[in-house]
Amino acid sequence: MPLTPDSDLDLLFPASFISAEVKSQLHESLHIRPLAATDHARGHLAVLSVLTVATDHGEAAWQAQFQALRNAPNTYYALVIVDKASDRIVGAGTLFVERKFLRGLGSVGHIEDIAVDKAQQGKKLGLRIIQALTHISEASGCYKTILNCSDANIPFYQKCGFEKKENEMAKYA
Ligand code: ACO
Repeated sequence: MPLTPDSDLDLLFPASFISAEVKSQLHESLHIRPLAATDHARGHLAVLSVLTVATDHGEAAWQAQFQALRNAPNTYYALVIVDKASDRIVGAGTLFVERKFLRGLGSVGHIEDIAVDKAQQGKKLGLRIIQALTHISEASGCYKTILNCSDANIPFYQKCGFEKKENEMAKYA
C-alpha cells in the first residue's frame, strides 16, 4: 500500500512542526511526520520492539493512549518515519515538554523511545529523528533537551550533538 498523505491522516500535532531541513535530508523513499491515529496498523509497536518488549494491547487501547497524549496539548510530540512504498513505520521517537516554575517559568524537552527498525539502522534515520525532535523542543522554547540512554548508545547521541551530564536514577514500582 503506498504512503497515505498527511492531509488524509488524523495527526497528533501539526505536520508543520516537522523541520523542513530534516525532511529534505531524508532519503526520497522515506517520509517523516507526526504520529497518526491509525498508526497502530502501520507497525508502530513492531518498531518500538527494538527498545523493549512491546506488548500489543489491541488497537482500541492504542487509540485510547493516542487520544490521552493529544488531550495534553503542547506536551507530547511523537513522530514516525514511514517507508513510502509500503506505508509501514520504520522509525519512531517522542519529545515530552516539561513546564517548570524555575528558569523563568521555562520548559525542558525530554527525548524518549527512539527506535529504528533493525533493517534500517545505520542509515541516519536515528539522527534525523533526534534532529526533528530537537527542532520541536527548541521551537517550543525549551532551554535544553535531555534524554537517558545506555552506555552503548552514548556515541550515537554524541554524534547527534549531545554531551554527557550527571546521572540517571531509577526506582521501579
Ligand atoms: N555506537 C557508536 N556509534 C553509533 C551507534 C552506536 N551504538 N549507533 C549509531 N552510531 C553512529 C552512526 O555510526 C552514525 O555515525 P556517522 O555519522 O559517523 O556515520 C551516527 O551515530 C548516526 O547513526 P544513525 O545511522 O542515525 O543511527 P540509527 O539510525 O541506527 O539509530 C539507534 C540509532 C536509534 C540507537 C538505533 O540503532 C536503534 O533503534 N537501536 C535500538 C533501540 C535503542 O537503543 N534506542 C535508543 C534508546 S535511548 C532513548 O530512547 C532516549
